[in-house]
Amino acid sequence: MEQLWTEVEQYFDQVLVKPDAEFANILSASKEAGLPAINVSAAQGKLLELFVRFLGAHRVLEVGTLGGYSTAWLAKSLPRDGYLITLELEPTYAELAQKNLDRFSFPCKIEIKVGDAVQSLQTLHESSEAPFDLIFLDANKAQYCEYLDWSIKLSRTGTMIIADNVVRKGEVINSKSEDPLIQGVRKFNAMVSADKRLQATALQTVGIKGYDGFCVIYVDA
Ligand SMILES: C[S@@+](CC[C@H](N)C(=O)[O-])C[C@H]1O[C@@H](n2cnc3c(N)ncnc32)[C@H](O)[C@@H]1O
Repeated sequence: MEQLWTEVEQYFDQVLVKPDAEFANILSASKEAGLPAINVSAAQGKLLELFVRFLGAHRVLEVGTLGGYSTAWLAKSLPRDGYLITLELEPTYAELAQKNLDRFSFPCKIEIKVGDAVQSLQTLHESSEAPFDLIFLDANKAQYCEYLDWSIKLSRTGTMIIADNVVRKGEVINSKSEDPLIQGVRKFNAMVSADKRLQATALQTVGIKGYDGFCVIYVDA
């Protein structure tokens, strides 16, 4: 089936998504620099861009930058007074992401903060950052509960939180999994479920990136 999923996604990329050449440049520069190909697909990136538009978002927070591919999709429709903060552990990834993003000349302000995301999120909260309109979680799945905890503190009523990779080839339903990433995602889902401030759903996806899915959360702070 994977071949068919890939072909259908390629079809929709051509017909609907139509990413600019600059997006492909991010991926080729990332590949050349030896970064893992664990970025979102173009179709998923476009969905992030559409969420920014639907929300009329001005303030976006991303956890997990890699080479800046999803960052570019999130930034694409942010207005001139928009602000995007993206958090990355690896300084060399952040450096490449900065170069990749500089090529676009987006009108909004983009800041890459290097370090462990949990620490960076705590620092953002302590520095009394205004709440974000959209938060995209896509770093270490074993830390998703901590990301969620800080993300809620950095939210307002109406903030959208999106968490990527919550299906993991269906392993999410394997309660006996010894994989800390699966257990991280399971604990995250349980945490979302138990928190009365959150309304959520999860969608399974197939395509160029295989079988996975994402969780979309509405915060009622
Ligand atoms: C799946 S990739 C992000 C992909 C990116 N969002 C995209 O779609 O283009 C996950 C990223 O999170 C980073 N990461 C992993 N653990 C982290 C941590 N504790 N704090 C911050 N970033 C982390 C990794 O170095 C990697 O670049």
